[in-house]
Amino acid sequence: MNAHTHDAGVGPDRAGRRNFLVELLALACGGLATLAPIGAGLWAFLDPLRRTGARAAFLRVTELSAIPDDGVPRQFAVIAERNDAWTGFAAEPVGAVYLRRTRGSTAVEALSATCPHAGCFVEIESAGKCFRCPCHNSEFTLEGAIVAPSPSPRPMDALECRVAQSGEVEVKWEKFRAGVAEKVVQ
Ligand code: FES
Repeated sequence: MNAHTHDAGVGPDRAGRRNFLVELLALACGGLATLAPIGAGLWAFLDPLRRTGARAAFLRVTELSAIPDDGVPRQFAVIAERNDAWTGFAAEPVGAVYLRRTRGSTAVEALSATCPHAGCFVEIESAGKCFRCPCHNSEFTLEGAIVAPSPSPRPMDALECRVAQSGEVEVKWEKFRAGVAEKVVQ
C-alpha cells in the first residue's frame, strides 16, 4: 500500500521531468542540425573575405632586355588583378618598382618605389646618381641604402626578383609598413 502510494505520488513527477529532458535534448539536436548547414553556408559566403588579404605573388613586370645593364635603375609599373572580397577586377597598376642590372649581369635587383618613410613615391634624381623622395627629402643610393640625414627609418624595400628562362622578369610584389625601422609586410 505504501509502495503504491509512493509510486502514485513521485512517479509522474519523474516521468514528467524525463519527458521534459528528452524534449529538450530533441530540441537541441534539431537546432544543431539546422544550424550546421547555415554555419557552413555562412562560412562559404564569407570565404572571399578571408582570402582578401592578398598573398604575395610573383608578378610579371617586364623583359630582361628592357633593363639596360648600366647600373641605373629603371621604373616599371606592377600590374595585378585585384580581388576585393566578392568582386574580381581587371588587371590594373598596384604599384611600381625600380629594376637594376649591372654590366654583363643577368641578375636583376628590385626595389619598391614606395618610400618607407610615409609611402610617397620615390624618384630618381635628375642626374641618375641617387633616389630622392619629394615628400620629405629622404635620399637613397641606387642600391637603396639611406643617405644621411634622411627621415626614412629604413632603406628602400628590396623585393624578391627572378628571371624566367623566357627572359620574363618577375617580382614578388609585397607592401611593407611605412614609418618603422623594421621591414614588416603589411
Ligand atoms: S614619404 Fe618619403 S621622405 Fe617622407
